[in-house]
This record gives sequence, structure tokens and C-alpha cells, in this order.
Amino acid sequence: MSQGFTVAIDGPAAAGKGTISKAVAAHFGFAHLDTGLLYRAVGAKMIGGMDPLEAAQNLMPQDLEADGLRSSAVARAASEVAVIGAVRAALVDFQRAFGARAGGAVLDGRDIGTVICPDAQAKLFVTASADVRARRRHDEMRANGTGESFAQILADVQARDARDMERVEAPLRPAPDATVIDTSDLSIERAVAAAINAIETKRRAS
Ligand code: CDP
Repeated sequence: MSQGFTVAIDGPAAAGKGTISKAVAAHFGFAHLDTGLLYRAVGAKMIGGMDPLEAAQNLMPQDLEADGLRSSAVARAASEVAVIGAVRAALVDFQRAFGARAGGAVLDGRDIGTVICPDAQAKLFVTASADVRARRRHDEMRANGTGESFAQILADVQARDARDMERVEAPLRPAPDATVIDTSDLSIERAVAAAINAIETKRRAS
């Protein structure tokens, strides 16, 4: 019965998309693609001196496993290369092919429900206040032993939000038919349950 079923999960930095996407994929037995990693891998190559378009056109699956893709410097570079239309265009086919997998797929990013998979059967927009998101990223970084201050991380999150929402190509915004989940006051368990619920409703209707 598993004809393709695509779940699109969009939202700003550190809203909980990654955690929710992994849990949802495990629950339904779908494959998961963190599309932010594509932009991070291109950003990392730009830091290394490569032209971002050339990097995007020649991206290999193993590039998504490079060390250091989670750093703030790479996140910043990712949001810089993500404003380049030709870079985004070079990454479309890979993402769409992933979304069309027969066994079902979850893609998380910024423009999945709006541009990459506008026909996705289920769309979620996961968000939270900038303060809560910066606090979470700060805790995460402290656990990993990196020493950035809360103020620095908040400023970074806000700058990245602005770049992601104000860009001309595929700006970050909820698709009109997305279910919005604000995780500011939700535990991980509750946020995951809300996501599964919303997707189940769409599955029954499809
Ligand atoms: O994990 P976090 O939410 O902080 O970031 P990410 O999802 O890894 O994305 C890093 C950057 O890549 C974002 O700030 C966006 O500028 C860009 N991105 C995008 O433009 N489109 C996507 N589908 C995914 C990420």
C-alpha cells in the first residue's frame, strides 16, 4: 500500500524540525532527508575556497557526512549560499527524487512544502520563539563543549532568520496548507505527538 507518501517539514533554525523529522520517519518507517545538510555541505566547501555553484553541482552523498557541518560558521555560510538561486536550482532534483521514494519520505528544510514538494501529502511548519530556539541551540552547543555565548547565538539565529525569510528565492514561510506547530511551550514528546497526529489525519484522508 506504500505508494509514495511525502511529509514536508519546514521551519526556522532550532525549532525542533530535526528531532520531529527523525521521530516521524521512525514512526511511519519512512526515509528521512535533512535538506539543511545539502546547504551546509555547500557552505563548508565555500569556506574551503570552492565556488558555491560548482560545489552544489558536484555534491556527493558522502559530502553530507563531512566533519564540522554542525558548526555556527558553517550554518552562517549555508544561509549565505542558500540565497543564490542557481545553487538552490542545482539541489532540486536530488531532493525531489528523495521525496518521491516508493516507501515514503520525510524531508525537512525551509522550502519543502512551498517549492521542492508542493504536492506533499502532509506539510508541517515547526516554529518557536527566537529566544527559545537560541536557548536550545545554546544548551546543545554547551553539551558539545563549544563556548559561544547565549547573546551571540541569539544574534546568529536572528540574522539567519532574516536572511532565510527575506530572500527572493524560496523564502522561509509556511505553505498555505501546512499545519503550524509552535514548540515554544511543548516537550519533545508532545511536539512529536502533535506532528504524528497531523500526519495520521492526512494519511486517512489520502
Ligand atoms: O539546523 P538548523 O535549522 O539550524 O539549520 P539547517 O536546517 O541545517 O539549515 C542551514 C541553512 O541552510 C538555513 O539557515 C537556510 O539558509 C539553508 N536552508 C535552505 O535554504 N533551504 C533548506 N531546504 C534547508 C536549509
